[in-house]
Amino acid sequence: MPFAYSSDRLFCEEVPLRSLAEQFGTPLYVYSRQAIVENCRSLDEAFGHVPHFISYAVKANNNPHILTVIAEQGLGADAGSKGELFLALHAGFPASSVSFSGVGKRDDEIAYALENGIRAFSIESDEELDRLATLAERSGTTANILLRVNLDIDSGTHDYISTSRRHDKFGISARNAAQVLKRAQQCSRITIRGIHSHLGSQITNVESFVVAAQALRALVDDLRSQHIPVDEIDFGGGFGIQYHGVLVHPQLPYEKPEAKRISPASVVRTVLPLLQESGCRISIQPGRSIVGDAGVLLTRVLYRKETDEKTFVIVDAGMNDLIRPSLYQAHHQIVPVELRNARFENVDVVGPCCESGDFFAHERALPHVERDDVLALLCAGAYGFALSSNYNARLRPAEVLVDGSTVVLIRERERLESFIQGRSI
Ligand code: LLP
Repeated sequence: MPFAYSSDRLFCEEVPLRSLAEQFGTPLYVYSRQAIVENCRSLDEAFGHVPHFISYAVKANNNPHILTVIAEQGLGADAGSKGELFLALHAGFPASSVSFSGVGKRDDEIAYALENGIRAFSIESDEELDRLATLAERSGTTANILLRVNLDIDSGTHDYISTSRRHDKFGISARNAAQVLKRAQQCSRITIRGIHSHLGSQITNVESFVVAAQALRALVDDLRSQHIPVDEIDFGGGFGIQYHGVLVHPQLPYEKPEAKRISPASVVRTVLPLLQESGCRISIQPGRSIVGDAGVLLTRVLYRKETDEKTFVIVDAGMNDLIRPSLYQAHHQIVPVELRNARFENVDVVGPCCESGDFFAHERALPHVERDDVLALLCAGAYGFALSSNYNARLRPAEVLVDGSTVVLIRERERLESFIQGRSI
């Protein structure tokens, strides 16, 4: 674990988190470079000698400097917008390693991807296929495609991040896949690479992945029997990580770990034999499992407030900095960066935004904390800063990257001046 206590102080690698809060202020995202590198390595090793390709899902964390660390590990990138394509290319991912996913690609986004000669487009509808064919024709380029298949599997994750049930907007049903791919075969500027599936995110149910692998395997046979070439299966991302009970210490309340604990690498090892039978090249698109446990959000306690009902710990980070608890009722373990108090109490940890939905924890057991104590919200490296906003005209936090004892500011705290743009009418 890149974040660990040494006696009573919480460190990121060799740096005490308290000193980072003092130096850079709070709220502050802190990332461990070693953790990111290790996550890339463990997924890569899970494939053993099987030829494979890992694309990092840029949406999980698009800080340019973090992208560069990941590009240096030899991964590709999966982008979900022109902005993410731009960031991936700028960070050093070769265009030939970049794919483009998403249900709503605009013309200018497709044109930009074609201009740059990306590895593949994941196609989600027949209209999108037609648009890509037209734009490729117009620009005299060719496009490789993966057909995103909606396998109608409920992976049991949060409703908002389940993406492969029949009623979800993503992908094309397995039943209609051949028809769309036959249409693609008619387009001279389109090359079919294979099929793609992404079940959803934070999936801890290995069985869903197994069912998906079997369904993809069957679909490959079916397509090939209809003379449709399939050379690649992109298995998507979604490998769940641990959020509960990540740090254990005698001075921390015990937090029961998730009932189903899986490691992303073990999911890969489980589905690989099934996918491999197809003879296809296997690729995956992990986001959270590369950066999730590599980042924390530091926040400072502003006030304690005792009401007849509850004790509130009001902190200086809000739902605009980390929206996952508000949006998905997601759990992030919360720990003080200095353990001085062995007395536990049940508190609501809440932010300063003007919504009752602005909370990080309800009725959570925490060591007693007071004004100026710094708390770390763990496993905030994925979909943390990436989903941040300026709600309540709050400035987005700074981000730092730690490597051993080296600390680099990889994004400055936003400034008030950034709010004043455009001109008066
Ligand atoms: N590939 C595609 C096409 C995706 O849409 C996603 C995530 C991924 C790969 C990466 O999935 P991962 O390995 O990170 O689970 N904001 C939510 C998660 C949204 C995921 C969106 N798509 C959260 O904070 O839980």
